[in-house]
Amino acid sequence: MRPLLCFLGLAAFLGPCLACPSACSCSTKKNGRLLAECAYKDLQEVPEGLSSNVTILTLSANRIGWLGKGSFSEVPEVQSLWLGYNQIGVVEPGAFISLVHLKNLDLSHNKIADFPWQDLRNLSGLQILKMNNNRLAGLPRDAFHSLKELRSLWLNDNELTTLAEGTFDNLPSLSQLQIFNNPFNCTCKVFWLKKWTENTSVSITKGGSTLCVAPGRLKGRAVTDIPDQHCVAPSVQLTYLSNLDNSVVQDGLTLTLHCSVAGSPPPEIRWRIQTPGRRVEINGPNVARGGNVKQSQERFWVFKNGTMAIPDFRKEDEGTYTCLAVNDVGTRDVSVNVALAGSENPAEDLLRDDPQASPFGGQSCYKGHDLDPSGAGEKLVIVYHVPRESKSKAGGPMPQVHLGPLLLALGAVLCC
Ligand SMILES: *[C@@H]1O[C@H](CO)[C@@H](O)[C@H](O)[C@H]1NC(C)=O
Ligand SMILES: *[C@@H]1O[C@H](CO)[C@@H](O)[C@H](O)[C@H]1NC(C)=O
Ligand SMILES: *[C@@H]1O[C@H](CO)[C@@H](O)[C@H](O)[C@H]1NC(C)=O
Ligand SMILES: *[C@@H]1O[C@H](CO)[C@@H](O)[C@H](O)[C@H]1NC(C)=O
Ligand SMILES: *[C@@H]1O[C@H](CO)[C@@H](O)[C@H](O)[C@H]1NC(C)=O
Repeated sequence: MRPLLCFLGLAAFLGPCLACPSACSCSTKKNGRLLAECAYKDLQEVPEGLSSNVTILTLSANRIGWLGKGSFSEVPEVQSLWLGYNQIGVVEPGAFISLVHLKNLDLSHNKIADFPWQDLRNLSGLQILKMNNNRLAGLPRDAFHSLKELRSLWLNDNELTTLAEGTFDNLPSLSQLQIFNNPFNCTCKVFWLKKWTENTSVSITKGGSTLCVAPGRLKGRAVTDIPDQHCVAPSVQLTYLSNLDNSVVQDGLTLTLHCSVAGSPPPEIRWRIQTPGRRVEINGPNVARGGNVKQSQERFWVFKNGTMAIPDFRKEDEGTYTCLAVNDVGTRDVSVNVALAGSENPAEDLLRDDPQASPFGGQSCYKGHDLDPSGAGEKLVIVYHVPRESKSKAGGPMPQVHLGPLLLALGAVLCC
């Protein structure tokens, strides 16, 4: 057991008997808070023998290299923990988890590359977090999301190359942020930071600017200086084509959807198809050179140019067809809800169902939304002609021979 600064005689003057490790000096502050001052003592680990009433623990400028799960188990009441200027390289998960009263945590000027971010979830009263001058190369997007009281966050002088969009969301109390001197890779993944900086009330300390180290053409420019035209959110539009020509009807109806995208960097095209029977995701072209299509996706031919063809379109292919455009700046999608309907008199039915519908549409166009709340998109009804005499047979699966002159119609057209 370490010597305790606890003599009967002293206790009479100091009030309650205080446990204090020999390396530290402990005192009660006016407000009744207990301070354990253990800075500049060449300590290699958190000393034992601290009073469970300690609310302020100063361990700065020692040689502590490691924090374990139980390092602070003696001081569950601690509100301020100063650990700056040590050599902390390892922080075990759980080291901070029980310090639910913590308001100030200083871990700056250490060697932390990996941090148990989940420990922060329990520190809901944390107001100041200093992790500057460490070796952090990345942060989970939700690292700070439970810190509703967090006012000041110092992350400068680390090795952060990127930050996920939303890293500083849900921090209602945040008023000061330091992220300078990090080697940002200014791909469009960090473009959000520029936009966020322009519009936030958080003061972003300029103790040095936040410069890009990559890519080459942005090297040396500030993150907030990434040219707007360099990073453009995707836009997407969907057009459809159908073989309205009577001569091809014998081969069945081929529905062709064409997704055209724009943005910088050029967006990738992905498709999501939801039919009553299944859900198919196609991330990229699936038609190989030889014309083969993957077994599970064989109904849907996706070409490199953004076109998807569904040959011999049948009742079971009815459903929602969504095209997504994805780049580093964001994602946009556009959907069309395709249905087949048989009719003896398509032209009349169309007019009755939707006065705006045009019976001879061949091509229309849908522009992408940030988020389509319905998820279903525009409605595209493909009406085919059922000859009067064969009506009785038309109830079953749609036979190709019953495809009369095809008519395309759509509700609520959103043309561009
Ligand atoms: C902690 O403080 C309480 C009163 O605030 C006191 O009764 C108790 O003795 C103290 N415990 C120690 C270990 O100092
Ligand atoms: C996290 O905090 C809650 C109270 O806020 C506490 O009950 C729980 O024990 C804490 N978790 C750990 C691992 O200390
Ligand atoms: C920057 O990010 C891009 C894309 O993620 C990557 O290809 C490149 O290697 C990175 N550059 C550096 C210097 O890390
Ligand atoms: C700017 O911030 C305000 C709230 O502070 C928000 O309502 C607004 O949508 C933001 N504008 C942009 C362009 O992000
Ligand atoms: C895309 O490529 C396919 C197959 O080569 C072709 O049939 C289709 O017409 C092309 N689409 C456009 C819009 O050029």
